Amino acid sequence: MSNILITGANGQLGSEIREQSKDFSILKFIFTDIQELDITDSLKLKNFFNSNEIKYIVNCAAYTAVDKAETDKKNAEKINVIAVSNLIKFATNFRIKFIHISTDYVFDGNANTPYTESAKTNPKSVYGLTKLKGETEVLRYSQSVIIRTSWLYSSFGNNFVKTMLKLGTDREEIGVVYDQIGCPTYARVLANVILQIISNTEKKTDAFKPGIYHFANNGVCSWYDFAIEIMKLSNLKCEVHPIETKDFPTPAKRPAYSVLNKSKIVQTFNIEIPYWRDSLEYCMNLLKNK
Ligand SMILES: NC(=O)c1ccc[n+]([C@@H]2O[C@H](COP(=O)([O-])OP(=O)(O)OC[C@H]3O[C@@H](n4cnc5c(N)ncnc54)[C@H](OP(=O)(O)O)[C@@H]3O)[C@@H](O)[C@H]2O)c1
Repeated sequence: MSNILITGANGQLGSEIREQSKDFSILKFIFTDIQELDITDSLKLKNFFNSNEIKYIVNCAAYTAVDKAETDKKNAEKINVIAVSNLIKFATNFRIKFIHISTDYVFDGNANTPYTESAKTNPKSVYGLTKLKGETEVLRYSQSVIIRTSWLYSSFGNNFVKTMLKLGTDREEIGVVYDQIGCPTYARVLANVILQIISNTEKKTDAFKPGIYHFANNGVCSWYDFAIEIMKLSNLKCEVHPIETKDFPTPAKRPAYSVLNKSKIVQTFNIEIPYWRDSLEYCMNLLKNK
């Protein structure tokens, strides 16, 4: 049976992969987070790869605190660039297929049609810049897939959905930006795509098609629309007002438009992508029953 290493396994995406791994019994997973395998620790990585025969790495580990990264560049760089470069060295030496996750924040947001994989990158934040540099490291290795995704949420971890549920309970009204357009992505759906890619590769080696791919739920919305839907689905009476980004300043600049064109991943891996509202409803039902 092929061993699959999941790094950053306690995060949103890693937890969703863990949750669904039971449905992929032909695969054997090793779930690690910073306590078991700190990806910035070269010696630990060396010992790990010398004592475990790994066929795939899914790198879910990342520095994801977008605003904090503006004043914590060194750590963001250490996790999103240097550690990725380390992992790629081991992947290359041990011929391990590498699946890496990147972000819509590699774009500046000045487009007005969905970004394809070949669109010009121009990150506006330290986080986006470190993720882009991480991509460059990954692309040095021919057996790697990079999936850029956007606005991840899950029933695991902290995210916009949970923040809105808390604010919606504590407050009577809130303002949410309506001039940043993108697409929310349920980490469960992305996890399933990753697992499908691996299980298809196990059946047919050439099903692994290296390169950059864009993935998000289908549809488009603003953070304001997203918030409205969360309040509706949870029957919260909190009133949501549309506000402009300039009235909600954050340390990190975010792209005003970061819709991803998903044609390439759909065609290459023959997948179907659910509409964002349907996925959100599914996640909210899980949260209600937790
Ligand atoms: N979240 C989003 O909205 C979003 C959007 C687009 C793309 N992405 C990308 O999608 C991927 C998954 O994101 P996510 O939301 O699942 O992230 P997440 O919930 O923040 O999970 C990342 C995990 O990595 C762990 N980690 C941090 N440093 C580590 C290290 N040195 N060694 C091993 N593990 C380490 C974190 O631990 P700690 O919690 O202890 O730090 C956390 O458990 C990331 O590559 C991210 O850049 C995320």
